[in-house]
Amino acid sequence: MSERPNRKPETGGFFARDRAWHAPALTPGYKTSVLRAPQRALLSLDGTISETTGPVFGHSMIGELDNDLILNYAQPGESAIGERIIVHGRVLDERARPVAGALVEFWQANAGGRYRHKKETYLAAIDPNFGGCGRAITDEDGHYHFRTVRPGAYPWPNGINDWRPAHIHFSIFGHGFAQRLITQMYFEGDPMIWKCPIVGTIPDKAAIEQLIAPLDWGNTIPMDSRAYKFDIVLRGRRSTMFENKLEGN
Ligand SMILES: [Fe+2]
Repeated sequence: MSERPNRKPETGGFFARDRAWHAPALTPGYKTSVLRAPQRALLSLDGTISETTGPVFGHSMIGELDNDLILNYAQPGESAIGERIIVHGRVLDERARPVAGALVEFWQANAGGRYRHKKETYLAAIDPNFGGCGRAITDEDGHYHFRTVRPGAYPWPNGINDWRPAHIHFSIFGHGFAQRLITQMYFEGDPMIWKCPIVGTIPDKAAIEQLIAPLDWGNTIPMDSRAYKFDIVLRGRRSTMFENKLEGN
């Protein structure tokens, strides 16, 4: 985890949300935020038991190719076009302890920067052997991994000439549908990251850097795939807990 010298030390079982770390809701450089941003003060709603104890994900729901985007949409004997990569990392809690059993979902554009979606309008070609989504469940050490092709950058209607850097979207589910976090992973060394209006909504450079997966040379498979490492650290739980019950309910 990166050093963050300006933050208060974390003590006890309560971790307040750090709003300076996350992007503010209203960021006119990212046009759609203007309509999405709340106009009034936020209200806090208490969670209900059904929200946190509802569905529990089991390993049995994961198919054999769910974490293989190179093959999971491909015709037999074929594979997705693009630079073959492995993405892996750990889901960790606010104290860097592994989070086991979390459902990690990921979706992305193909190597040309095109999504397989009926509303997609970018002129880059569809890859008939690439669907662009998959999922994995973290193991006892909080690890997940999947195989894919590196997504392409794509333009989007925001400013006159705005492009998204190569990125993979992530969703992390805890033990219920109310515990869902969504983020994006970028790739080390991509100059497009620093031109992106969505990335530009994040005020703290260290927070951006935490979203950039470094090339993981040690886990490269020679003559096959390069690897990128992306750890996901969940912010603290919202409830105050007893010291002997840090995990919450
Ligand atoms: Fe995207």
